[in-house]
Amino acid sequence: MKPVPVIAIDGPSASGKGTIAARVAGVLGFHVLESGALYRLVALASLRAGVAETDESSLAGIAAGLEARFLDGKIILSGEDVTEELRGEGIGNRASAVAALPALRSALLDRQRAFRQPPGLVADGRDMGTVVFPDAALKVFLTASVQVRASRRYKQLNDKGIHANLASLSRDLAERDERDAKRAAAPLVPAPDAVQLDSSDLSVDEVVGAVLKLAREKLESQQPR
Ligand code: CDP
Repeated sequence: MKPVPVIAIDGPSASGKGTIAARVAGVLGFHVLESGALYRLVALASLRAGVAETDESSLAGIAAGLEARFLDGKIILSGEDVTEELRGEGIGNRASAVAALPALRSALLDRQRAFRQPPGLVADGRDMGTVVFPDAALKVFLTASVQVRASRRYKQLNDKGIHANLASLSRDLAERDERDAKRAAAPLVPAPDAVQLDSSDLSVDEVVGAVLKLAREKLESQQPR
């Protein structure tokens, strides 16, 4: 049987993965997995439970038992809509810290793979192409300069009425990149067969167009003859 196709979009914070993944999935009619949201959910649930960000076994337990649902763009944790709360930079930083722990990462593996449903999946994160879906039909590694990413994140937060400071955002992003790239478990590195795309000087439409073109080529070449 033909495997359900996966398009993996990995890259650093605020490189635009989420926006691109959602748009590409919309055009292809595929499902979406925003894997960062799972790490953010563990960060939030553990914060609420008073679990330290270094307590690996308790964090893995929280990850395994997460009662999370993704519904029409909303993220529900144990029956409560936490969509907005998850977006905060504090939760993002805590997510990056807990995401370095191997036991927690393996506790989330099956949950991520369960998103692979027909007709296909677009998955965004750090290790979609390297660890979670190594057989993805297309792997994209999306980057942008730290300045461009910081100003995108600044605008995103401002649009939501969240106060932010460009210099500290930029510092946080660089710090998070470094931690994500240097960790031993599933570090942020492009898969050897990933297509690298620098979106610093590209519009969202241009990046979506480029990914769709690659996706169509790959998906067509996988069709049985
Ligand atoms: O939006 P942003 O890129 O800032 O963060 P995110 O994609 O929501 O992910 C939050 C954190 O979770 C990241 O800083 C990563 O450390 C971690 N993460 C990961 O380790 N593996 C993934 N597949 C996705 C996210």
